[in-house]
Amino acid sequence: MRGARASRTTTVATGVGALTLALLGACGSGGGAGEPVPPAATRLGERLFRETRFAQHFAARVAGRALSDPLPGGDPVVDVVETPSGPIAGPYAGLSISCAACHLSDELEDVAGGGVRAYCDFATHSPLPDRGDGHATTARNAPALTDVGLPREGALFFHYDGEFETLEGLSSATLTGRSLGWLPTEGADALAHVARVVREDDGSDANAAGHGGGAYASVLSGATGLGPDGALLPEDLRLDVGSASDADVVAAVARLLARYVADLSRGPDGAGVREFRSPYDRFLRLNGLPERPDPGESDLAYARRLRAAVRALASPVFLDYGPYRTHAHPFRFDRVELRGLLVFLAEPGAPAPPLPGPGAGAGIGSCALCHAPPTFSDGRFHNIGATQSEYDAVHGLGAFLALPVPGLAARDADPDAYLPPSPAHPSAPGTFRSAPRAGDASFADLGLWNVLGNPDVPGPQTALRASVTERLGLLPSTPDDALLPRVIGWMRTPTLRDLSHSGPYFHGGHAPTLEEAVQNYRGAALSSRFGLVRNVAPEVPGIDFEVEDLLSLAAFLRALDEDPP
Ligand code: HEC
Ligand code: HEC
Repeated sequence: MRGARASRTTTVATGVGALTLALLGACGSGGGAGEPVPPAATRLGERLFRETRFAQHFAARVAGRALSDPLPGGDPVVDVVETPSGPIAGPYAGLSISCAACHLSDELEDVAGGGVRAYCDFATHSPLPDRGDGHATTARNAPALTDVGLPREGALFFHYDGEFETLEGLSSATLTGRSLGWLPTEGADALAHVARVVREDDGSDANAAGHGGGAYASVLSGATGLGPDGALLPEDLRLDVGSASDADVVAAVARLLARYVADLSRGPDGAGVREFRSPYDRFLRLNGLPERPDPGESDLAYARRLRAAVRALASPVFLDYGPYRTHAHPFRFDRVELRGLLVFLAEPGAPAPPLPGPGAGAGIGSCALCHAPPTFSDGRFHNIGATQSEYDAVHGLGAFLALPVPGLAARDADPDAYLPPSPAHPSAPGTFRSAPRAGDASFADLGLWNVLGNPDVPGPQTALRASVTERLGLLPSTPDDALLPRVIGWMRTPTLRDLSHSGPYFHGGHAPTLEEAVQNYRGAALSSRFGLVRNVAPEVPGIDFEVEDLLSLAAFLRALDEDPP
């Protein structure tokens, strides 16, 4: 996870740029005892990730002035960071919003009430720059980015609802979209502004100094190398911004952002999968258990093979290495975590052995059916009842079952009423891609339903349709109007690694703790056996475990926590 390493040095740099370069220089590039200097693309990618001048707030104040003029007032949205124990001073206060403002890493590591984040924030929904359009926060919880780029079995999708199939597409849409303050009607202004920042930057700010320095134009063209080793940007990422169109400049920035985000899940040389360093991974190694699927083996088949091997352990070797650097609980894998692992891997027909004592049942998590190791995500879409519990918490038990949802024809007939805002429908309120609102029962988050068959989002349709029809066991030619009602509430499965750095949980952030997240499954399983969870995934009714196992499952999930390198 070299990204975190790079950001660590950057934090030092924010005030004292020269110190960072000295630190980087001391590490040396390649070899030696220290960590290698991150590749040039990563250093530049991280600089762009933390670039606060791409935001609409900055654009509105810099018109007719030089980029390096002091900003006459930061965006209030970054003044504070919302945390479970209340707002704390934001690391980017006085500036405008950037990717890093919502995808924090070690900025607040040593701040009371803060802590390390896996490239996400602490809020249930991230605050948005105020544009007077009624959207005060993002529709969803900002997810961890650490493992976003891990290879998955199926096609890669991003965002809970699969809106993007590439990180490049996601990055350019986000740069010029609502998260950075741009309204759907301002796409052209956003392109022109981002391109202007890249063309006119002189590399004189602290963010530049912390990431190898240089004016964007000259680093991007390959004329200038990045400090401290003078490495040039790889040719496939270069661009002559003087002659390129605005759109090409934004595409080049998006490529670098995508590379940066993808590299968070790669090894320090930018190749291979990063090293997993949780107690769970140590436990597998200590006990000679299989650590990953064999070539050609599916993740689920591997999970089942692992289950058999774990059950066959005659005398498991446990571990307790004392405290983590960045988590409050011990770095441990003991009997409780092992019990949690067994329940996690158990499924109907293969329950975990019953616990001794009265009332303690067999323990069927079925978790690995969707969260198979080693990535703990199948990258597919399911409805585990999270939309319903988020909605019913606001509108009362049973409310989501009764919510009217239009079919494809009705949705097509009135996209402004039903689809998320887009350049084609800029004033659509996003009725079905919103957190539920007290006092207005029409808002809900239907996940994939917003994207499948939506003409405003052409990119991922083929891959989404393949994923959905495969999941439902239907022909790929099944028409969208037959698929749409079946995908209500479907969300993409997130990874479960390092969750203690990314709470609160689920797309709405409505589970503040891991215990509550696991309890959600118990509740959904029970209700679904009575047919009371709308459009629920077929695996959910088979989930069956007692309170003891809830605690073991939560302990096991904590054993997937890691310290950043
Ligand atoms: C205002 C807060 C905010 C800002 C600013 C922001 N993001 Fe995000 N990001 C989010 C939220 C919320 C989501 C979840 C969106 C969803 O699933 O619908 C997200 C999702 C993502 C994802 C997908 C993760 C996944 O697992 O699918 C990536 C990658 C990402 N953001 C990168 C970026 C980049 C790059 C930038 C800067 C150009 C950026 N973000 C700016 C809040 C933000
Ligand atoms: C049918 C597939 C499926 C099964 C089975 C399943 N999950 Fe999930 N899991 C998901 C999906 C999809 C989400 C995202 C849901 C959302 O946010 O709306 C999720 C989210 C989570 C989250 C929140 C992660 C975050 O970053 O917010 C946790 C924790 C979790 N699951 C743990 C478990 C455990 C423990 C089990 C077994 C008891 C389990 N899951 C079983 C599909 C599944």
